[in-house]
Amino acid sequence: MAEIAREAGELLRTYFRGGWFVSESANSNSEAEQHVRIEYKGDVDLVTEADRRSEALIVQRIRERWPNHNILGEEGTRTATGSEFHWYVDPLDGTTNFAHGFPVFAVSLGLARGENLIAGVVYDPTRDEMFAAEKGSGAWLNERRIRVSPVSSLAESLLATGFPSQKRHKNPNIHFYQRLTLRSHGVRRAGSAALDLACVACGRYDGFWEFNLNPWDTAAGVVLVREAGGIVTDFSGGDFDLASREVCASNRLIHPALLHEFDEVFAGRDLERLPRPAEFRRKP
Ligand code: IPD
Ligand code: CA
Ligand code: CA
Repeated sequence: MAEIAREAGELLRTYFRGGWFVSESANSNSEAEQHVRIEYKGDVDLVTEADRRSEALIVQRIRERWPNHNILGEEGTRTATGSEFHWYVDPLDGTTNFAHGFPVFAVSLGLARGENLIAGVVYDPTRDEMFAAEKGSGAWLNERRIRVSPVSSLAESLLATGFPSQKRHKNPNIHFYQRLTLRSHGVRRAGSAALDLACVACGRYDGFWEFNLNPWDTAAGVVLVREAGGIVTDFSGGDFDLASREVCASNRLIHPALLHEFDEVFAGRDLERLPRPAEFRRKP
């Protein structure tokens, strides 16, 4: 799995331009050629040639080695072979970042046997970081074994979340974002759910949550978090399930506090009085 993810990541790197650069040669590429072309799947749901080519490559590699396995890929691959093995393929997680030249994106491959997630890899080609985990064998970042953080209080945690590319005006997550920002060291929204989960697994983040993710966003990262000693549930504390579209992952220690905050927001107790600008001013 890692070999396939690395090859796909190398392909993504060939498309990636990390900014708009002033060209030194007179007959250089036009601006349009310098950045990958963006298409829209929804109002702000982007896709590029890199997403499609990465998926085609991954599917080809899986089929060469495991022709009977089922594959569910974000860019349209659907197979139902009857095999008990199911791959969940996100060929480019973080497309919006990628398209804007913001270097936070990854390839994510998860594998389930029946209902059980058994392996996952998340590869970040910009940092050459390969996160890999197999059920029962631990989680790894390149050559080193990783574990979740030992941070035990929400107030001292660094958290992460994300917002979906569709129906963003209806997403309730902004309430959770505000509440947890005020009760932690901060909430990052870096734009790749697979990397967010990988960062919980290696302790860079202490917790992560998001609404409405798809199985290709979460399958690999969930194995990583579990194998690194963390926990993944829905927002009520029930076992995570690929179909549930609620994911809350943490180092275990802050999990009860995170779920408590979710309960408070769901109960409508998140609405706090907004301070007037004068109240922000420091007292001399
Ligand atoms: C997106 C990223 C993002 C998350 C969105 C996803 P994509 O995946 O994981 O972090 O907030 O919900 O759709 O579209 O870049 O593969
Ligand atoms: Ca994704
Ligand atoms: Ca994607």
